Amino acid sequence: MHNLPSLVTTSITSSLLKASAAPNTKSLLDYYHSSTPPTTAIMSLPETQKAIIFNTTTNTLSYDPSAPLPPASASETEYLIQVHSTAITNGELTWAPFVNWPEYHVPCYDVSGTILNRVANSPFEPGQKVYGRVMADHEGTARQYTTIIPSETALVPKGLSMVEAASIPMSALTAWQALFEQGLLTGSYDKGSVPRVDGEGQIIGGQAQGKRLLILGAAGGVGLMAVQFAKLAGAYVAGTASSKNTAYLKELGIDEVIDYTQISMQAWVAGDAAKKFDLVFDCAGRKSMLDGWHAVKDDGVYVSVVPGFKEPEGGKPAGVRTAWFVMVSRGEELERISRLIEKGVVKGTVDSVWKIEEFEEAFGKTAGGHARGKVIIKLADEE
Ligand SMILES: NC(=O)c1ccc[n+]([C@@H]2O[C@H](COP(=O)([O-])OP(=O)(O)OC[C@H]3O[C@@H](n4cnc5c(N)ncnc54)[C@H](OP(=O)(O)O)[C@@H]3O)[C@@H](O)[C@H]2O)c1
Repeated sequence: MHNLPSLVTTSITSSLLKASAAPNTKSLLDYYHSSTPPTTAIMSLPETQKAIIFNTTTNTLSYDPSAPLPPASASETEYLIQVHSTAITNGELTWAPFVNWPEYHVPCYDVSGTILNRVANSPFEPGQKVYGRVMADHEGTARQYTTIIPSETALVPKGLSMVEAASIPMSALTAWQALFEQGLLTGSYDKGSVPRVDGEGQIIGGQAQGKRLLILGAAGGVGLMAVQFAKLAGAYVAGTASSKNTAYLKELGIDEVIDYTQISMQAWVAGDAAKKFDLVFDCAGRKSMLDGWHAVKDDGVYVSVVPGFKEPEGGKPAGVRTAWFVMVSRGEELERISRLIEKGVVKGTVDSVWKIEEFEEAFGKTAGGHARGKVIIKLADEE
């Protein structure tokens, strides 16, 4: 048994971690927004499945060993997949006000698994191993059988384990869109202007040479991806993390690790304009976010994905552009990232792997705020 961390952050209150009795199956049907028969009516599948349920009224998580399968109607337009693994995103249980979740909602939005059905006019076939990020207004993937829309789906990169695959979509797409689409690190978001593998299998990078990037929270799921993408693009990359993560970040190619437990960015920059950054990417938030403002160049860009984004008191420097955004799940973009993974120049980082019955420990590990990479819940044994 793993103990819950003593630091339970704003992302999840301790009440969220208290298991409640599994809700009854009748009311669970509500969370599929549908009274159509479950998928078992059309396929030879079990009657029920294991699932994690988030009760949005009581803010509690529970484990249900006999939850219903997705309704048959969903599998006409979405892939029904047998889930191998799913991943938790820090803070995800606080998203209820922004999405229309019913009382009982399945959490976790990253998934790897095997397609079970055929969807007309879609690229993938039953039996193929896929991964993707389900958007948060959809039921999540912490269950044995789930659905995902074709445009959010990509084939699992060759050679990648299904556990590692589940660690990638949300973090990779968020980092990619933050650096290249919102931050314009390479000057343009055009497909030809960002790192890629070309038709001959050559890795094309170096488009951000001469640029300086700072990642606040470089050792989290998103930050670790951002380090790898920015290095491929040829930028000078610094990141904040505690010293226990320095060696790992160096292995991924980071140029400089700034230990946020020892020095603030304001003190590190010390008024020296040459040390400032073209792009500051904030994956840490709170005090670090306000401190990070000291590190952006006067004509630089500050991109954040952390809830609670604020400009500094007294306003930001006039020339600084800011962006706070929510990532968009794009299977086609994930496919292009898959090519970089297959070349061995980008990898996922798995902090820890848990069984579904260990959901409290798994969510507690993420909420502690110090996971290195992603916390995975594994639902199937076979690869
Ligand atoms: N807007 C969107 O579309 C979107 C998408 C995905 C994620 N997010 C948000 O982005 C944030 C980051 O997500 P994530 O998955 O990367 O988080 P995470 O994996 O939970 O981040 C954990 C990491 O943060 C580091 N850390 C903790 N406090 C820090 C600080 N003050 N300064 C620097 N590093 C610190 C820890 O390193 P040490 O152990 O070394 O301290 C740990 O490695 C979350 O708030 C998440 O909700 C937003």
